[in-house]
Amino acid sequence: MAKSRFEQFPMEGVDLDHPNVARVYDYYLGGKANYAVDRVFAEKALERFPFVRPAAKSNRLFLHRAVRYLVKQGVRQFIDVGSGVPTMGSTHQVADELDTTTRVVYIDNEPVAVAHSQMLLEKEGDLDRHAVIQADLRDPDLLWNKVAESGVVDFSQPVALLLIAVLHVTQPGPDGTDIGPAAVARYRELLAPGSYLVLSHGTADGVPESRAQEMAEFGKMYDATATPVIWRPRAEIEALFGDLEMVEPGATWTPLWHPEENGANAPEIEFDSPNDSVVWAGVARKA
Ligand SMILES: C[S@@+](CC[C@H](N)C(=O)[O-])C[C@H]1O[C@@H](n2cnc3c(N)ncnc32)[C@H](O)[C@@H]1O
Repeated sequence: MAKSRFEQFPMEGVDLDHPNVARVYDYYLGGKANYAVDRVFAEKALERFPFVRPAAKSNRLFLHRAVRYLVKQGVRQFIDVGSGVPTMGSTHQVADELDTTTRVVYIDNEPVAVAHSQMLLEKEGDLDRHAVIQADLRDPDLLWNKVAESGVVDFSQPVALLLIAVLHVTQPGPDGTDIGPAAVARYRELLAPGSYLVLSHGTADGVPESRAQEMAEFGKMYDATATPVIWRPRAEIEALFGDLEMVEPGATWTPLWHPEENGANAPEIEFDSPNDSVVWAGVARKA
């Protein structure tokens, strides 16, 4: 297997002993910011579960449509937490297509994802309006402070907080239990009125029966990584929005959320039925 640019210059703090969720996901999307350990895992997963690639792409297109929709609603600031490696159209690129005054901060705890985002922003971003920060979503107040320090976002104004395909990555707290939902509850408090929460999350609930079994087996593969995954039932995913007001049509399968917001060059992703996309997604507004 040919070495990627990243393997030729390994970075400090990069775990090369385990496949990493950000880099594996990058491979699903056809990206290059991954290592042999990630590719071996991802190839095995895709061979057994080919539905994962279209599901990942459909999730990405949901992000694009949500950003477009929100720029049209007047949102000018985006905080993309668990942003991963910017492979298939990044938040700032989509937002800039509609408005070049929009501001975007990317956050991830994976050094390769952060380095890749930094390179992209230096190449074609605007460092007055775009930033990337290495931080952990499990400490919302610290993360919020770091975003404030970047100077890119004005927290007195509404923001869109993006938590896309990140909360199904288990978020162990000090005692090992998942604190993802508690962290989201804190983010909901931190958001200024008029802000939005954009969230997507893998699920085996409501998917075709054979797919539910495959999702269970696919999820089990991640037990061998440093970050196991958890496919929450749809009601638990919706509970993550708390008392925020859901934007129509409410939480739904990724292909069904405002399909009219697809960009002109959005790839066609064919599913036998929308629930084959295995990701439940929605947008909600804080009054
Ligand atoms: C499946 S990827 C999704 C990437 C992107 N949001 C998307 O949907 O295309 C999940 C990302 O969340 C990041 N992540 C997981 N736990 C995190 C944490 N505690 N703090 C910050 N980022 C985290 C991973 O490193 C990875 O980049």
